[in-house]
Parts: sequence; C-alpha cells; structure tokens
Amino acid sequence: MSPTAPPGGPRRVVLGVAGGIAAYKAALLLRELTESGHEVTVVPTAAAERFVGRATFEALSGRRVAHDVWTGAEEVPHVRLGRHADLVVVAPATADLLARAAHGLADDLLTNVLLTATCPVLLAPAMHTEMWLNPAVQANVALLRSRGVTVLEPASGRLTGADSGPGRLPEPAEIAAACRRLLGSGARGHDLAGRRVVVSAGGTREPLDPVRYLGNRSSGRQGVALAAAAAARGAHVTLVAAHLQVPAPAAVEVVPVGTALELRDAVVAAAADADAVVMAAAVADFRPATRADSKIKKSDDPARDPVVVLERNPDVLAGLVTARAAAQGAGGGAGGGGARRPVIAGFAAETGDETGSVLEHGRAKLARKGCDLLVLNEVGEGRGFGTATNAVVLLGADGTERTVPEASKDVVADAVWDALVPMLTAITPAADDAAENAAENPETGAP
Ligand code: CTP
Repeated sequence: MSPTAPPGGPRRVVLGVAGGIAAYKAALLLRELTESGHEVTVVPTAAAERFVGRATFEALSGRRVAHDVWTGAEEVPHVRLGRHADLVVVAPATADLLARAAHGLADDLLTNVLLTATCPVLLAPAMHTEMWLNPAVQANVALLRSRGVTVLEPASGRLTGADSGPGRLPEPAEIAAACRRLLGSGARGHDLAGRRVVVSAGGTREPLDPVRYLGNRSSGRQGVALAAAAAARGAHVTLVAAHLQVPAPAAVEVVPVGTALELRDAVVAAAADADAVVMAAAVADFRPATRADSKIKKSDDPARDPVVVLERNPDVLAGLVTARAAAQGAGGGAGGGGARRPVIAGFAAETGDETGSVLEHGRAKLARKGCDLLVLNEVGEGRGFGTATNAVVLLGADGTERTVPEASKDVVADAVWDALVPMLTAITPAADDAAENAAENPETGAP
C-alpha cells in the first residue's frame, strides 16, 4: 500500500522503542504510521536493538534510525528530534523506560528526546503483570499522567511465557488510533471544535455516617476516555467527576462531586450552555434517608442494630430530557432548525434475565429515559467495571443500532462521539448562541 497524505499533511513522529519482547510489534506500528503518510524517525534504546535490528526500522521508515546522542552531534539530535516532533510515541514502554521518563533521567537519546519534546507524548507500556501492578510502576504512570503524558492501559492476555494478565502491548492498530487522535489528524479531525460538552464519570457515594457510604464499583475509566476523546476532537469539555479511580485528562475542566445530588446539580449547571451531555457516571438510585452526624456504633443489644432506610435519588438523565422538552415548549433550548439542544446520551449496564435479553432491556431503557443515544453495556464476570476494555451496542432513538466489539475504552469513546457528531450537526453550537445574545444585549447577554 502506498502512503496516503493524512488530512492536515504529514506529521513528524518520533517512535521510541524500549527493550522488551514486544519491540517486534513496534515494526507493525511503524508501518501503520508510515502508511498514514507520517514521517517517522525511530529511536530505539540499546536494549531494543537486541530485540529488533536497526535494518528493520530503517527499511520500514525509509530513514536512518537515531540511536545515540553522539552520532551527528553537530546537529544536536536530542534537541532537534524532540523540538521538531508533532508526536513522540514510545511502544513498548518498559518499566525501566517509564521510571526514567517519570524521573526526568536523560541517559540515552530516547530519554533526552522525551525531555525536549513540547508535543504530545504517548507511552504504550508492555511488561509482565507483576511488574505492571507493582506500586513503583503504578506511581510512575500516575506521575507521568499528572503531567499530561498519555499512558495507554496495557491489554490483558497471553504474555511472553504461558502466563497471562494485564501487561500486553495494545494492538498496533489501537496505538496508531491513539496517535491519530493526539495528532488531531485522524479521519475525525477536530469535528467537535466549537462545541461544549459535559461528561459525567465515576460512581457516586451516598454517606451513611462520616466514615461509611453506599457506593458502586465504577472506576470512571469510560467517562474519562469519553472526555479525553472529546477534548482531542476539539470540544470544550466539562468532566463531572465522582470518585474517579483514574486520573482526569489534562485538557478538560473537572468538577468534582460526591453524591448523586451533587452530581445532578453540577450536570444541570454545566448542561445549561452545552451542546451534548453524556451520562457515563454510575449514579446511585437510592441514598440513606438519614445521615448520622457521628459514626454509627454497635450496642450490646443486637435487636437495636440499625436498619438502613433508603430514599430515591433523582434520575439525572431523565431529568435532563424532561428539562429540555420543557425548555422547547417554552420556546427556548432549541438549537438551529428547531433541533434539540443539548444532545443527550446515557449508559445502561445490563444483564440478561428471564424477563428479557440485554438488548431488550436496553431498548426499554432508551424508551424510558427518552435520551438520543443509549450506550448499552453488558456487565457481569469481569466485564464493564474497572476493566480497560468494553463491548457495547449503541442504540439510537431513531432506531439505529451499532455494535462496537470488545475494544479499549478509548476506541469505544470515539465510537460514541462518532454517533453523536451527526446529531450535533443539526444544532447551532451553544457558544455561538451565547455570543449572538451577548452582541444583541451587551449589558446582560440576554436576547
Ligand atoms: N442515571 C441517572 N440518574 C440516576 C441513575 C442513573 O442519570 N439516578 C443514568 C446513568 O448515568 C446512566 C443511565 O442513567 O447514563 C442508566 O443507568 P442505569 O443504572 O443502568 O439505569 P437506572 O435508571 O438506574 O435503571 P435500573 O437500575 O432500574 O435498570
């Protein structure tokens, strides 16, 4: 296949390769990137060159491999490569590479490039499960993410030997998709530019007393992936975050919340001038009817053990739909052409049972909630909660149905926005309406 020029022209990519067995997959990623028309310079570490020979990378990239700080020193390669790159991607990123990057070491060309890069940096870790789960590695990953570096979750599956678990390098096609997103030159480009979107993520906690709460197992990964994908596609993103177990992306506005009521207030406030709201959070349907001011204690008499009485929380998603309909009735809330704003999407975590299949429950929930899109997620045994991957069906209010087979939550996030973007084209961006109103009445911004 001959290289095709990517939208926005070819970009300069540095592909760092660290010394792990998955280094052979870097050759496939390299081919994906060059076939997308990008100019790729490969920077292998000394250990990577023990796994894959320089000739392979040079033949596939059509360029000299940059392997040390001393070759071509007159061009100061560590500064030139980092400064001129549009993206630095390291695949595989070993535990050692993550540690050196996190602590700012500069003991070879690749770590020098990482320190001089001002462009987006993407690291795709691969290592044994025990290494990946080691607190030192996790702390390094958290540190890198807190600085805006994108660190992909490793895939789960067969590792070098007979063992399996999280630690596999994600498939080269998935890493290439993440590269395209960061380059902003994928087929999607900035198709959410000028849009304001709200994503709720995580799980709410309903306090019983100052130390105990009713909660759920949602990690917030899917919501965070949705927020990151929208930001990469050019949207202004408000992330209403309930107890996330993963870091929020760097380029989004985060509104932390605890309970369902706090989440409702934050979402409703942000939705007022939003084009789309995606409710990915696991919102508690019930909260304890009373919250003890001090820690609930045992007494000697088991007959006096407390009984928790629950009361219903509002349904935030259904409330958004009702408020939109009411605003339309009152002549507001509509984008251009009488279309509805905001576009509203919900999630449904379902299991099949004797009353119906997962799909049947999903369709019923879509009708009940009245939103525009329902992301239907089969949960159970290792599926959905806390995992890095997800398999969903996107149910549209117009009867459309699209299956997204098991993929990373980043891929699912892009599929959700792919489904929402056509719905958004029918409505005027909220920001444009706000600007128009402000022009009409500079004092108040009111029309
Ligand atoms: N949701 C919400 N407010 C609630 C409960 C859920 O906005 N109080 C939203 C979730 O964010 C999600 C969707 O509704 O987008 C579906 O959540 P789910 O828990 O599957 O549905 P429920 O409405 O709670 O229905 P049920 O548990 O009865 O199946």
